[in-house]
Amino acid sequence: METLQAILTRRSIRSFTDEPVSEEQIHRIIEAGMYAPSANNHQPWHFIVINEREQLNKIPVFHPYAKMVNKAPLVIAVCGDTRLEAAEGYLALDCGAAVQNMMLAAHSLGIGSCWLGVYPRKQRMEAVTELLELPRHILPIALIVLGIPRELKSTPKRFRPDRVYSNRWPYPEPETGRL
Ligand SMILES: Cc1cc2nc3c(=O)[nH]c(=O)nc-3n(C[C@H](O)[C@H](O)[C@H](O)COP(=O)(O)O)c2cc1C
Repeated sequence: METLQAILTRRSIRSFTDEPVSEEQIHRIIEAGMYAPSANNHQPWHFIVINEREQLNKIPVFHPYAKMVNKAPLVIAVCGDTRLEAAEGYLALDCGAAVQNMMLAAHSLGIGSCWLGVYPRKQRMEAVTELLELPRHILPIALIVLGIPRELKSTPKRFRPDRVYSNRWPYPEPETGRL
């Protein structure tokens, strides 16, 4: 799939068929994550592939917006290694770039995905740390739910010309109501 088309047509998928995601597809998705930009090219990420049903089903117990995991074949946890953080705050940005690469790679392979927010919510971070038995220097940043889509989503209109300015911030300040 062409890159711009993948970016525009990717949507969060929360309903999946029973088909598994293959080892080869998982490899390609994680590889795409590892090609993300990172501060000083420190690549401070680790990836935990969760495909045991018992582990998967524990996720919606602590995560309020993850009930689709009960019927998903796979979750990949993206974790950041504080020992490899280039400067404070970069860890989550680097891992976020990896997450986006992975979701776009999945979409281009015909696999649906949804980002489950973990960092910076302390309770969710603690719960994921316990579930995955993470050591203290490894921070859980995000969980990505993956599977063959059972839903088709259209591309919404999102380009906002009123959010694009020339050379400097516009005054008087624009109204920026929540969407
Ligand atoms: C940091 C972050 C956290 C998110 N957390 C959740 C979540 O916990 N559960 C969920 O179903 N979707 C979650 N999403 C997905 C957003 O709801 C979704 O990206 C947004 O509604 C836009 O829809 P789209 O991805 O289809 O373009 C999250 C997205 C981001 C970037």
